[in-house]
Amino acid sequence: MSLYAIGDLHLHYQSVLRAPGQLHDRVWKKHEEKFRKNCAKAVTEEDTLVLVGDHSWGKNLSECETDLQYIRDLPGRKILTRGNHDMFWDAKKTGQLNEMFNPGLTFLQDSYEAYRDYALVGTKGFTFEGPFFLDRRGRITGWDEEAEDHAKKLVERELQRLRKSFELAKADGYRRFIMFLHYPPTNILEERSGFTDMAEEYGADHVIYAHCHGEHRFNDSIRGEYRGRTYHLVSGDYLRWDPLKIL
Ligand SMILES: [Fe+2]
Ligand SMILES: [Fe+2]
Repeated sequence: MSLYAIGDLHLHYQSVLRAPGQLHDRVWKKHEEKFRKNCAKAVTEEDTLVLVGDHSWGKNLSECETDLQYIRDLPGRKILTRGNHDMFWDAKKTGQLNEMFNPGLTFLQDSYEAYRDYALVGTKGFTFEGPFFLDRRGRITGWDEEAEDHAKKLVERELQRLRKSFELAKADGYRRFIMFLHYPPTNILEERSGFTDMAEEYGADHVIYAHCHGEHRFNDSIRGEYRGRTYHLVSGDYLRWDPLKIL
């Protein structure tokens, strides 16, 4: 029984691919096939696979049906968290999605899922992504403060959702946690954030995130050991479509 994670599949069986770069970068070529094969090799029906957002380019549920069916057909128990491109998923209507796709897919929002003696908690998260202003040498000299203010509000809302997830698990007696985000836990300038603080407050052993795809973004946030937790970037292209074994 193992726990795997990956993110940013960006499937588009029924929708317009809104990132033409995906077509040109070799790592994305037939990525659905590569990922399906890698899952078949690694993941068994007893395993759990957490997909941390940006599942589909579809604008609504009907444009995502084949993409979600593809995920449903992968081996093991599948748990999904929201990404910024998941237009089919209104956070407030997560209950409806769970009814529609049960059994087969679990949509994690404002709740937790048990895995052995761990509680899997998660939310989309949020990160300020600029715009940053650069000098002639490419060093950051400032940023759009209005955008930063807006980002702070979104971060706060996501932190509340994440806390709810942790508290529900805690109330049910869980003391070990694995924390899933779609966005990286910090922005490119930060060493700490509300998300790293919350991971430490509850003692999450692992923090998993994606969203950073394309090689130039792999260094955007924390990877590896940091202040007692282990941080994992699991963007599909970073992992070359091989789901990462967390436990
Ligand atoms: Fe993405
Ligand atoms: Fe994303």
